[in-house]
Amino acid sequence: MAAFGERAAGYEDGWLGRLHHDIADRCADLALARSPSPGRILDVGCGTGYLLRRLAQRCPAATELAGIDAAPGMVQAARRAAAADGRLSFQIGTAEQLPYPAGTFDLVVSTTSFDHWADQRAGLAQCAQVLAPGGYLVLADLFSAWLLPTLAGGRRHKARTRRRAGRLLTAAGLRPVAWQRLYPFLQAVTAGKP
Ligand SMILES: C[S@@+](CC[C@H](N)C(=O)[O-])C[C@H]1O[C@@H](n2cnc3c(N)ncnc32)[C@H](O)[C@@H]1O
Repeated sequence: MAAFGERAAGYEDGWLGRLHHDIADRCADLALARSPSPGRILDVGCGTGYLLRRLAQRCPAATELAGIDAAPGMVQAARRAAAADGRLSFQIGTAEQLPYPAGTFDLVVSTTSFDHWADQRAGLAQCAQVLAPGGYLVLADLFSAWLLPTLAGGRRHKARTRRRAGRLLTAAGLRPVAWQRLYPFLQAVTAGKP
């Protein structure tokens, strides 16, 4: 988290910043195709809040756009960048312990954060819990069979394949699970709360 905090000030700069913007833009398209007019939106591992700012522009009817991130520096940067829109709010916290009542959000999004969660099963269960019935989770990260060798080492508990992630989503009670390739190794998955 310290490393993410240190990167916060320049996080949206340069080619890496542009890549994260592009991933977020593609996720916003996907999310709004599933959930065209969400009232309440949560971004888990929101970083500097770019995706929520885009969703705020594209969803004039949304009343609450909340971001949560484990790195205080990211939350600080997100608050600064979104100060002009009172519908956006950001807080420090983790996916594994979301501080929102059950059924709060119509849409939960998360981009390139899931792979960092210490307990992915618990994080997805929390996402499912804070979703309202009929709501959607849209999650984008590295998922590829090419990453199987990385599961032999320190990443062995990570859901880095569709199969592993799909199992966790189903265990969290989310369905149907649908996949979309955004880049060769980077995929987005959408799953609904029945
Ligand atoms: C690569 S950045 C992605 C930020 C942003 N979502 C984006 O797409 O630009 C990963 C973010 O996930 C956050 N993060 C890592 N583990 C987390 C956890 N367990 N709960 C919440 N946020 C977490 C980090 O602090 C970091 O800001």
